Amino acid sequence: MSLATLSGKTRIAGVFGWPVDHSRSPRLHGYWLREFGIDGAYIPFATHPSKLEQGLRALPALGFRGGSITLPHKERALALVDEATKLAKRIGAINTLIVREDGTILGDNTDGYGFIANLQQAQPGWRAAAGPAIVLGAGGAARAIVVSLLDAGAPEIRLVNRTTRRAEEIAEAVGGPIKVLPWDARADALKDAALLVNSTNLGMAGQLPLALDLGTLPTEAVVYDIVYVPLMTALLKAAEQRGNRIVDGIGMLLHQGRPGFKAWFGPDPQVTPELRAFVLGA
Ligand SMILES: NC(=O)c1ccc[n+]([C@@H]2O[C@H](COP(=O)([O-])OP(=O)(O)OC[C@H]3O[C@@H](n4cnc5c(N)ncnc54)[C@H](OP(=O)(O)O)[C@@H]3O)[C@@H](O)[C@H]2O)c1
Repeated sequence: MSLATLSGKTRIAGVFGWPVDHSRSPRLHGYWLREFGIDGAYIPFATHPSKLEQGLRALPALGFRGGSITLPHKERALALVDEATKLAKRIGAINTLIVREDGTILGDNTDGYGFIANLQQAQPGWRAAAGPAIVLGAGGAARAIVVSLLDAGAPEIRLVNRTTRRAEEIAEAVGGPIKVLPWDARADALKDAALLVNSTNLGMAGQLPLALDLGTLPTEAVVYDIVYVPLMTALLKAAEQRGNRIVDGIGMLLHQGRPGFKAWFGPDPQVTPELRAFVLGA
C-alpha cells in the first residue's frame, strides 16, 4: 500500500456536486497528478445547493487553486463567480473555477472544448463545415455542444428535443443558424447531415432506449453519443453497423478536464487509451 502525504505547498483543487460520488473527475485528475508526479490533490466535495455559495467563497481563503463544478450547480455557479469568460456566459453555465492571484474566482466552461477535442481526436478528418449537425436534446450538455459546433463553423444546427420550448430557448439565447425541430421529426432531420449527436439521457443505462430510424442519415456522417454508460450505446452500434464513423462519450469527459488541470497544476495533460481505461474502470 502506498501512503500519499500532502505538504504545505500542495496544490489543491476539488469538484463541487450534489451528489458527488458518481463523479469521475477525482479519478481523472488523480491519474494525471500521479502521471506527472505533482504535489497536488483533487478532492470531491458533496455540496448541498444551499451551501454552494459558501463553498465557493471558501476556495481562495483556503488557498485552493480552483475546482470543477458538476450537476446540479453548473448554472447557478455562473452567477456566483467574480468573473466568467465570454464563452461561459454564452453557454449559460460553468464547469471550471480558477482562483486568481488576487483571490478572485474566474468561471469557465470547458464542456464544449471537451466535446470538440474528443471529436477531433477520434475522427481527425471531421470538419464542422462539412454539413448540417443534428443535435438531439436541449439540456445543459446540448447548449455547450451547440455553441462549440457553431464556433467550429457548423453551417446549420438542427436542434431536436422532446420539449420544443427548451430547444427554442437555446436558439434564442445562442443565436446563429439553429433550426428547432419537434421530436417526431428526428428521423427526417437526419437527411444530408454531416454529424449526429445524441445529448439526451436516452440510451444510458437505466434510461429508456433512443428510438431513432437512421435510414435517411448519409453513411459519410459521423455519429457521436455523449452517453458513456454504456460506452458502446445501441445508437453507436447501429451507426457502426451501417458504415458510419462513430465517436463515444468518455473522451468528452476526459478532454473537458484538461484546461482546468493545466490552470491548477501546470502541465497540459493528454488523453490516452490508458487514461480512458483507468477512468472507465471506476
Ligand atoms: N460525455 C460527457 O462528458 C457528458 C457531459 C455531460 C452530459 N453527458 C450525458 O449527456 C446526457 C444529458 O446530460 P444533460 O446534463 O444535458 O442532462 P439534462 O440537462 O437533464 O437534459 C436531458 C435531455 O434528455 C432529454 N430526455 C430525457 N428523457 C427523455 C425522453 N424520455 N425522451 C426524449 N428526450 C428525453 C431531455 O429532454 P426534455 O428537455 O424534453 O426533458 C433533455 O433534452 C446524460 O446522459 C449525461 O450523462 C455526458
